[in-house]
Amino acid sequence: MCGIVGYVGSEQVAPILLDGLSKLEYRGYDSAGVAVYSPQHHGLVVEKAKGRLQVLSDMLHGGADLDGTVGIGHTRWATHGAPSDVNSHPQVSRSGKIAVVHNGIIENYAELKQFLEEQGVPFTSETDTEVVAQLIAYFYESEQVDILDAVGRVLRRIEGAYALGILCADAPDQLIAVRKDSPLILGYGDGCNFLASDVTAIIRHTREVSYMDDGEVAVLTREGIRCYNHLMQPIEKEICHVDWEVDAAEKGGYEHFMFKEIMEQPEALRRCIFPRVRDGQVYFEDFGLSDDYLRSISKIYIVACGSSYHVGMVGKYHLERLTRKPVEVALASEFRYMDPIVDESTLVVVISQSGETLDTMAALREAKRLGAKILSIVNVVGSSIARESDVVLYTWAGPEIAVATTKGYSTQLAVVNLLALYLGKLLGTLGEQEYHAILEEMLRLPEKMDQVLTHVNEIQYLASQYFNHDSVFFIGRNVDYALGLEGSLKLKEISYIHSEAYASGELKHGTISLIEDGTLVVALGTYHKLFEKAMSNVVEVKARGADVLALTTEGRREEMAKNATAVLTIPDAHDLMLPSLGVVPLQLFAYYVALMRGCDIDKPRNLAKSVTVE
Ligand code: F6R
Repeated sequence: MCGIVGYVGSEQVAPILLDGLSKLEYRGYDSAGVAVYSPQHHGLVVEKAKGRLQVLSDMLHGGADLDGTVGIGHTRWATHGAPSDVNSHPQVSRSGKIAVVHNGIIENYAELKQFLEEQGVPFTSETDTEVVAQLIAYFYESEQVDILDAVGRVLRRIEGAYALGILCADAPDQLIAVRKDSPLILGYGDGCNFLASDVTAIIRHTREVSYMDDGEVAVLTREGIRCYNHLMQPIEKEICHVDWEVDAAEKGGYEHFMFKEIMEQPEALRRCIFPRVRDGQVYFEDFGLSDDYLRSISKIYIVACGSSYHVGMVGKYHLERLTRKPVEVALASEFRYMDPIVDESTLVVVISQSGETLDTMAALREAKRLGAKILSIVNVVGSSIARESDVVLYTWAGPEIAVATTKGYSTQLAVVNLLALYLGKLLGTLGEQEYHAILEEMLRLPEKMDQVLTHVNEIQYLASQYFNHDSVFFIGRNVDYALGLEGSLKLKEISYIHSEAYASGELKHGTISLIEDGTLVVALGTYHKLFEKAMSNVVEVKARGADVLALTTEGRREEMAKNATAVLTIPDAHDLMLPSLGVVPLQLFAYYVALMRGCDIDKPRNLAKSVTVE
């Protein structure tokens, strides 16, 4: 979703803003803009353009056209008002003195707009953000207060979610940053300071950052950053050092981030798993849940969205199998409206790569309100979900830039498996022998994934056979069904092919009527126990004319090849590792199909990387 970057320093700001915005492109956007204080004009210069950032950058000759050393920039993902130059941010007050960039939604913007219109303030855009710029200007100009005071008054009146970057022409040596329910970080440089939606936008310039909390306000100058709580009392923020390398967020010679991130999975798994296995045991650092509490839980509730929810679906099978505790999985967007049965004895596991998904955050808060303890599985360090949880298990996948998650999924699943092992052992529901067998397999997982990745050419070839299908079905049972959900989502989101995942047993209850000559069915038959059943479903759809692309384990290749049109395999492995391995060919298949269809793989239409609106 929207990306924000701001800089105050002594270098020319426009190229810094454009570069920062280019690092936020992955979040999804439809227009971009910058506002710079121009000493030459003694005021703000605002430039905006609908479309790709390149359009804005070309318009400004890479930023060379704008003179100034303080400014804010924005990539907009439209909510209120269609994508257009005028609706792009920064939004500016009537006087032209106040410029605002915003991520989030101002829920009461309509009534505030009406109030301002009654005071004679004309509006030029359809955005909720313009209300913020105009309202700050209203207090600033009509009540003659200083700019920070005016911002404080506005914050008491606006409702909703917002990260704001504010620049005032009368205070040209400072930026104001505000955060509520939308991410915003502060970056500390040498004679310069930054604000940004995430670290990738500023990592080239500084690794020292602090994460703004809800209700906080910051004033950035060249000399430093002053922070205030929601009562505008000064506070000290903890400064954290970001230790990942700059090139972790660069393409590094790959054509797409998605492909790079698929290939990075074995390494990401090593980072995620190896430090958590010590002396043959699963070990979690800073694990704040006591053994007594864990023994007392009556059930586990997993909440998440999209691919993270699919991890939860696999996780249900694995956690129930190893812990014998009931596990429910809910879409975060449904959870808070379903009157969930959650209390002090429920452990709620929240899964989120970005740690900023608004629905997931809302579910977390609802679960907390109901008394549950929250264990979150998160990739982005310091993100909102991580900070509001009782315990965080980071996935350590490194920055994930492609909108479609890949290494995020794999590492989340690895953490869920480690958790299942940890709990199974603690609760005594998992025998010593099986515990060690699974743990051994987890340690071998990165190596086995390396083997899966050697099949790239074969998968590319199969993609070339099927890329022009209009409709695809993924079928499977049990964990293969959960895996199918992810394979199907991957394919549809980046290739725009209509695709559905079904539990194979459900086919006969309706869906099979859609199978006809040439329909592509991706049949997942990795789970040993249900292989024969998977095979019957292959035969069933084949008999109705489907082309069947099957996925199974090495040991079953021959058998599967008797009925399927084409077979992909993963190495033989313990049951619990099969979805982790099986997802990789599905990611690659989706990638190559999208590539052959000429799609914008890293930034699929209408999608955003972190979904910070409901
Ligand atoms: C799909 C995808 C999305 C995310 C979902 C949740 O490839 O990336 O479905 O999984 O938006 O995002 P997080 O995990 O950041 O909460």
